[in-house]
Amino acid sequence: MKKNQVIINTDIHKGTINKNIYGHFAEHLGRGIYEGIWVGEDSSIPNTNGIRNDVLEALKELHIPVLRWPGGCFADEYHWKDGVGPRENRKRMVNTHWGGVVENNHFGTHEFMMLCDMLGAEPYISGNVGSGSVKEMSEWVEYMTFDGESPMANWRIENGKKEPWKMKYFGVGNENWGCGGNMTPEYYADLYRRYQTYVRNYGDNQIYKIAGGPNVDDYNWTEVLMQKAANLMDGLSVHYYVHPGGFENKGQAVHFSEAEWDVSMQKTMYMDELITRHSTIMDKYDPDKRIGMIVDEWGAWYDVEPGTNPGFLYQQNTIRDAIIAGVHFNIFHQHNDRVQMANIAQMVNVIQAMILTEGDKMLLTPTYHVFDMYKVHQDAERVALDLHVDTIQENGFTYPQVSASASKAQDGTLHISLCNLDKSNSVSLDIDLLGINYSQATGSILTGSEMNTKNTFDNPDQVKPQVFTGLKIQGNSLKVDLPSKSIVVIAIS
Ligand code: AHR
Repeated sequence: MKKNQVIINTDIHKGTINKNIYGHFAEHLGRGIYEGIWVGEDSSIPNTNGIRNDVLEALKELHIPVLRWPGGCFADEYHWKDGVGPRENRKRMVNTHWGGVVENNHFGTHEFMMLCDMLGAEPYISGNVGSGSVKEMSEWVEYMTFDGESPMANWRIENGKKEPWKMKYFGVGNENWGCGGNMTPEYYADLYRRYQTYVRNYGDNQIYKIAGGPNVDDYNWTEVLMQKAANLMDGLSVHYYVHPGGFENKGQAVHFSEAEWDVSMQKTMYMDELITRHSTIMDKYDPDKRIGMIVDEWGAWYDVEPGTNPGFLYQQNTIRDAIIAGVHFNIFHQHNDRVQMANIAQMVNVIQAMILTEGDKMLLTPTYHVFDMYKVHQDAERVALDLHVDTIQENGFTYPQVSASASKAQDGTLHISLCNLDKSNSVSLDIDLLGINYSQATGSILTGSEMNTKNTFDNPDQVKPQVFTGLKIQGNSLKVDLPSKSIVVIAIS
């Protein structure tokens, strides 16, 4: 292959890209739920049954397939019964994990299910293993899904919901190696076996059970869980965040150096190694790949914005984050035989968010636009793609200049997503297309003039998709000029 050449063979199919890879995560953390999504029915911010309309409308555009809630670390301290019944009677508690603020439980099971309905997203509930009982978990499932007479179903009906909800995805604990109970893998595997026993399928509601997975590269955790409990799980979660400076001093979201750009790109590419190595262990116990890898927390996590509550994890979002998101998706696609879901952390106002709000104002982040541009890959058929590009080696960090993926939609349109990770140089690619007759190619591009170009409440459209003009059809190939730090999605038909 020549340098800067991409060969796409649309006759070689690589399996469906599960739309759930485009999933989200909303935790009771900072202004993620309260203010960001839930403002209450009496708010002066226009809302539908308490959910703010501006955020809702913007999120609908993304076709969010699945939404994880209520945590995160919050999940293993959450007692669901505090969050049902008349709101004025709900228990006020302390959100001990996130800032020690009052949690009034106004956003509970009914409100979450309503939000999922409004978004057209499947609910993914994280149950409490760390500080909750087996009974509490089993009663929650009964409350949500039992269609008949039972104490929990009767209570749900009393609380205004006659028909049970459909609830497919259920996580049995979260980060049980850490905030979810500081357990050893052996101990958690035993607890997982026990708790999941009582996560029942009622009627035709079939639950996809997700076991709490490893901390980043804790391969032993995966080994032990698979060895002891593979037959009792449908999915195993994996969490990995890009912290440019490490967990203690993560680095700033906006004011960062070139070296921090480089380390961010290298750490983004690390997701590929992680998935590969955890998959290899899973293959040993599950060669048919029945069990999905569920990357239910990922994203770039920086220091909080100066002056904001350190427990609220509020950070800005730049073109760097957009590239981090695009590269993650290309990696997830590459592993579509094993990765069946991924949930970015988090949806609004927390870590690598889609949307930031300030009072009644809101803005769409560069990351939002990547989710929007890439949604064409949801449930599409991945096709073979070979890529030959330079490797960047700068400031002691190494990463490829370009990341790419291609898929065929049901109507036959081919979509190619390309990220130029290079902060300074553009790149010209020759894309050879095999197995497809086409007459037109169009595209959109997201880029910024600086490494840290961002959207602000005063200037919310600084980073937004534009029509891509750096594209030429030449016989059976496309010539594509990718500017530095850009994301491009091309549609070919
Ligand atoms: O997303 C923020 C936190 O990161 C989650 O609560 C926890 O699961 C992870 O450590």
